[in-house]
Amino acid sequence: MPNKACVRAHTNIALIKYWGKRDETYFLPMNSSLSLTLDKLYTDTMVVFDGTFTEDAFYLNGEKQSEKETKKISKFLDLFREEKKTGLRARVESINHVPTAAGLASSASAFAALAGAANLALGLDLDPQRLSTFARRGSGSATRSIFGGFVEWDMGTCSDDSLAVPVDDAGWDIGMVIVAVNQKAKEVSSRIGMKRTVETSPFYPAWVEAAKKDIVDIKAAIAAKDFVRLGEITEANGMKMHGTMLGAEPPLSYWEPDSIVAIKTVQALRKQGIPCYVTMDAGPNVKVLCRLSQAETIKAALSEHFAADKLIITEPGQGIRELTEEERAV
Ligand code: ADP
Ligand code: DP6
Ligand code: CO
Repeated sequence: MPNKACVRAHTNIALIKYWGKRDETYFLPMNSSLSLTLDKLYTDTMVVFDGTFTEDAFYLNGEKQSEKETKKISKFLDLFREEKKTGLRARVESINHVPTAAGLASSASAFAALAGAANLALGLDLDPQRLSTFARRGSGSATRSIFGGFVEWDMGTCSDDSLAVPVDDAGWDIGMVIVAVNQKAKEVSSRIGMKRTVETSPFYPAWVEAAKKDIVDIKAAIAAKDFVRLGEITEANGMKMHGTMLGAEPPLSYWEPDSIVAIKTVQALRKQGIPCYVTMDAGPNVKVLCRLSQAETIKAALSEHFAADKLIITEPGQGIRELTEEERAV
């Protein structure tokens, strides 16, 4: 058994959102979702299993994490230990090349990377789709980060078939401009935010119905490489998700004034004939889906309101991969 592995996973941004669980133990979603994996934002995670360790240890960005955070990791690793029938404890070292808990999907790259590393370190040899069902149990959005390009998380019927399906490599002039309005950790986690919405928002059932139609339509737009349709469905779906939060009790909103500034700038660009569309997650940051070839033009327009270091252009990213010793050293 190799016992040690280091894996890189990229974040993904949902174009059709996951916002609500039908089963909280197994992380089964209320609806299928679809995302774009991003090249620029990622997590590198190393896992070592060792017979001499008496407990799990978890380091994030070089800092030892609290007992609460370490417990989350232990619970997740238990799934792999159960599969391998081993009681070995682990040391986990992770580096986020993405702000943590800021609505830029750190939980997606985090648990996809950890799943990939645990799979290799224990020599489990799980295939990518099966691995996505494991990643799902750490964070729902991590299901989709196992693969690159456009990825669907099929809601499935049970834990075994609620998994990721690669849809398209997104290699047809697709890009994203991220407006990092605020990179601080959010006050209400995605997990708590979606739970409150499911339990209290009267708009929630309508959201689920709409999302079920949106996923069919967006897959047709991708198959036809119809960028405008892809963008329109994306923007409308994201807004509908945020609408459910306004209906929650107490109401929930992740938006900040600068989020609106970014949205209005994108709308103005569209009026000038540049196809670009916004989507937002559980955080104030705005993601602009665009033609990769027009990303610099869009960035220039946004830079009238935002400093250059808040604007990130990214291409579609790849699925998870193991890092070599040399890559780890950098
Ligand atoms: P985000 O918008 O960043 O996905 P979430 O609220 O969904 O925000 O998830 C943030 C949580 O994910 C963190 O509080 C932490 O528990 C977990 N997380 C983030 N990065 C890592 C990492 N590299 N390794 C393990 N867990 C992580
Ligand atoms: C708004 O996957 O972070 O980004 O499953 O509870 O860990 P947990 O939540 P998480 O939720 C993501 C919500 C979203 C939409 C999406 O990524 O689909
Ligand atoms: Co998350």
